[in-house]
Amino acid sequence: MQVVIKANYDEISKEAALTVKQRLMEKPSFVLGLATGSTPLGLYKELIRMHKEEGLSFSHMVTFNLDEYLGLAPDHPQSYNFFMWENLFKHININPRNVYIPDGKVKPVDVEEYCEWYESRIKKFGGIDLQILGIGRDGHIGFNEPGSSLGSRTRVKTLTEETMQDNARFFKDPSEVPTYSITMGVGTVMEAKEILMVASGKNKAQVIATAIEGGVTAQVTASVLQLHKKVTVFLDEEAASLLKRKKYYNFVAEAVKKFQAIKES
Ligand code: GLP
Repeated sequence: MQVVIKANYDEISKEAALTVKQRLMEKPSFVLGLATGSTPLGLYKELIRMHKEEGLSFSHMVTFNLDEYLGLAPDHPQSYNFFMWENLFKHININPRNVYIPDGKVKPVDVEEYCEWYESRIKKFGGIDLQILGIGRDGHIGFNEPGSSLGSRTRVKTLTEETMQDNARFFKDPSEVPTYSITMGVGTVMEAKEILMVASGKNKAQVIATAIEGGVTAQVTASVLQLHKKVTVFLDEEAASLLKRKKYYNFVAEAVKKFQAIKES
């Protein structure tokens, strides 16, 4: 796991977007796993800028979103589908047929079959090349709340009270926050070839320290990333403030750059 600490939110967004750009240029048909929440917004803005100002093309890219609220129609203003179109897709040249987001309106009776289909689509495209993740205050990735099996697959997950409170800020009335979600499982996320996590702000500092430097536990599902072979975590100073090995991570970041320069010379 590489921990990259930057001065502020703007810098982590730009750095993370640069990784997406590099991967996309290496493989135009690459499969990008997407996250919602406020944290990836800066990264999406930067991708939009790269499209508009640098001509970065997304026409062959395929995307799979991590999760969706169960019960919300795709055009519901608080649905993740709506969020993705407003904040990324409608501003870039993505082919709508290449966009996959769990369907919040799937009937409860059909949901298991639907989740299997979602997994099979990911497989059909050869798996996720790069998965973007945020982190919930309780350590969740996607909607894999504490206690989620570390081998779990796409399924219905009940939200914790903490997550419902955190996400209530987007709804007019807190009682409108759905209780259930459809989310890729921890096992699904772990199959991505590469993972990029972004976290910003003081209110993420504790959970970041637990997930990165604590033990691997289903109680903090993000901690399982310690077992993945290619993860980069982009943090601003505030989110990194409780890390014990901060100095070493900064030293590594510099050393990696130097090593890269040696390789290229
Ligand atoms: C939601 C999403 C997560 C996201 C989390 C944190 O719960 N399901 O994927 O990481 O919010 O959001 P924020 O970045 O707004 O703190």
